[in-house]
Amino acid sequence: MTKGRFITFEGGEGTGKSTQARLLATHLAQLGADVVQTREPGGSPSAEEIRSLLVTGAADRWSPMAETLLFYAARIEHWRQVIRPALDRGAYVVCDRFADSTMAYQAYAGGLDRKLVEDLHRLTLADLQPDLTLILDIDVDQGLARAAARRDDETRFERKGRAFHEKLRQGFLDIAKRAPRRCVVIDASQSVEAVHAAAVGAAKSQLGLG
Ligand code: TMP
Repeated sequence: MTKGRFITFEGGEGTGKSTQARLLATHLAQLGADVVQTREPGGSPSAEEIRSLLVTGAADRWSPMAETLLFYAARIEHWRQVIRPALDRGAYVVCDRFADSTMAYQAYAGGLDRKLVEDLHRLTLADLQPDLTLILDIDVDQGLARAAARRDDETRFERKGRAFHEKLRQGFLDIAKRAPRRCVVIDASQSVEAVHAAAVGAAKSQLGLG
C-alpha cells in the first residue's frame, strides 16, 4: 500500500482543471507538504511523447481502441516513473486527469465498452484509484467557449462536436454518482477563487488535508 495521497482533477474541456490543480498543489505545499503536481496524458518523459500523438492531428486519427491503449500505455509509465515513487515516499500527488478521463472520453462519449475499459484498468493498474477526485462540471457551450479562447494546438478532442461533449459531461456525472465516496462534483462556472475554496474544502473534509 502507498503512504501518500493521490488527488485527481477531472472534467470536460474548458473547466479550469489545470488552474485548479496548480492552485491546490500550491496551497498544500504552502502548508509544508511534499507535493508533486502532474498531468495526463503525460507527466513523465515517455508519456509526454505519447501525449503529442493523442492531442494533436485529425479528430478521427485513432480508432477508439487504439486511442485507449495509447492512454493506458502513457498512464502505466507515468504511474511507474512518477506517481508511485511519490506516493511511496509519502507525498501528495495532484494530477490533472487520470483514469476517469479514459472512462468518460473513450467509453461514455467515444462509445467504447465501459467493461472493456474497466478490464484494461484492472489488467494494467489492478485496483488503483485516486483517494479523492474533484470533478469540475460546467455547461458544455460555456466550457467549449472557454477552451476555444485558449490558444494552443492541442485541440483534437475539443473538435469532436457538441454531442460528444454532452455525453462526456453526463459520463463524468455518472462516474461521480457511482463512486460518491471518492468523487466530489464542483460547479466550475463559479469564480476561480470559489472553485479553489470548494476544492480545498473537499480535500479537508474527505482527506483531512489543508
Ligand atoms: P488536457 O486538455 O486536459 O491536457 O487533456 C488532453 C486531452 O486528452 C483532453 O481533450 C482530454 C483527453 N483525454 C482523453 O481523451 N482520455 C484520457 O484518458 C485522458 C487522460 C485525456
